[in-house]
Amino acid sequence: MEKKVAFKQQKTEDEFLDRTLRPRVLSEYIGQEKIRKSLKIFMQAALERKESLEHVLLHGSPGLGKTTLSYIIAQEMGVKIKVTSGPAIERAGDLAAILTNLQEGDVLFIDEMHRLNKAVEEVLYPALEEYVLDLVIGKGPMAQSVRINLPRFTLIGATTRVSRISSPLRDRFGMVYCLNFYENEDIGKIIERSAKILDIQIEEEAIAELAKRARRTPRVANRLLKRVRDYAQVKKSEIINKKLIAETLNLLEIDEIGLDNLDKKVMEVMIKKFKGGPVGLSTIAAAISEEQDTVEEVSEPFLIQIGFLSRTPKGRVATESAYQHFNCQYPKKLQKSLL
Ligand SMILES: Nc1ncnc2c1ncn2[C@@H]1O[C@H](COP(=O)(O)OP(=O)(O)OP(=O)(O)O)[C@@H](O)[C@H]1O
Ligand SMILES: [Mg+2]
Repeated sequence: MEKKVAFKQQKTEDEFLDRTLRPRVLSEYIGQEKIRKSLKIFMQAALERKESLEHVLLHGSPGLGKTTLSYIIAQEMGVKIKVTSGPAIERAGDLAAILTNLQEGDVLFIDEMHRLNKAVEEVLYPALEEYVLDLVIGKGPMAQSVRINLPRFTLIGATTRVSRISSPLRDRFGMVYCLNFYENEDIGKIIERSAKILDIQIEEEAIAELAKRARRTPRVANRLLKRVRDYAQVKKSEIINKKLIAETLNLLEIDEIGLDNLDKKVMEVMIKKFKGGPVGLSTIAAAISEEQDTVEEVSEPFLIQIGFLSRTPKGRVATESAYQHFNCQYPKKLQKSLL
């Protein structure tokens, strides 16, 4: 129960931070160079032809900037954005109501696209392809099918689980972008920008230190910055330095490379209980009493990114660098299996 309340509080704080610190225009969006360049060209082309932008699918780990980018696209295209999410659209009728209320050029943002149900997805196909809605009115022999024309809109879908998007749906997006983890340097720039907005004094060296520990993720960087500010306030320190960062992160049990409790639990159980693997994801999740989805969506992508965990056909395996980080002896068995 307590854990749930804490989680909820963190969610509301994150939402608040997300809104206040969210860049509004593409030029303020830091990193993701390739995506920015490509989007800029396709947006300009659509604007010049006075057309709506083609549908965009954004995928990547939580907190990397999918929602932010969607708002920016609408802003840059000079159109309105309607926001909804996969699980919120329960029936085909819900989607029909949303679509018929759109205006020419509008962006429809569907978050958690992978949680859209099949019946709704079927209605979406013709809407995406031909901008029409095929509805069946009535039941049995009296049923009639009607076709309604829709305005030319842009769908932006966001997901943390692109593998769960069916291929017919994926094929209907004109652009599919994968958001990657950020370079530490870019995370540093994000921290600098947020510190300015929140009026926080922070030394350059401290920015670099915080960036190293932010899981290469903008949302985590912003959240940690706030925690460091709290700590500095209580310790009556006007300016944030490297020492304060270290002390705050110790308190939060985040280690020197940014691993949090969940990451540490995953790696430790793999190394200590399952001898480095291979071990299935569901077994790992059960062993640390976490939901499989949480481990897969939140922890695993980062652990793979930093080369601590790898996926093999037989299951997840801990790597030699993970063993080194946790000061454990790398088993001979694993060395051989990789040869
Ligand atoms: N490229 C960026 N430049 C600056 N700040 C960013 C950038 N990307 C994300 N942020 C910051 O990180 C926060 C989280 O980003 P956002 O809400 O867009 O993530 P998301 O990918 O939608 O996450 P989720 O999968 O959890 O919905 C934003 O509020 C913003 O402040
Ligand atoms: Mg989001």
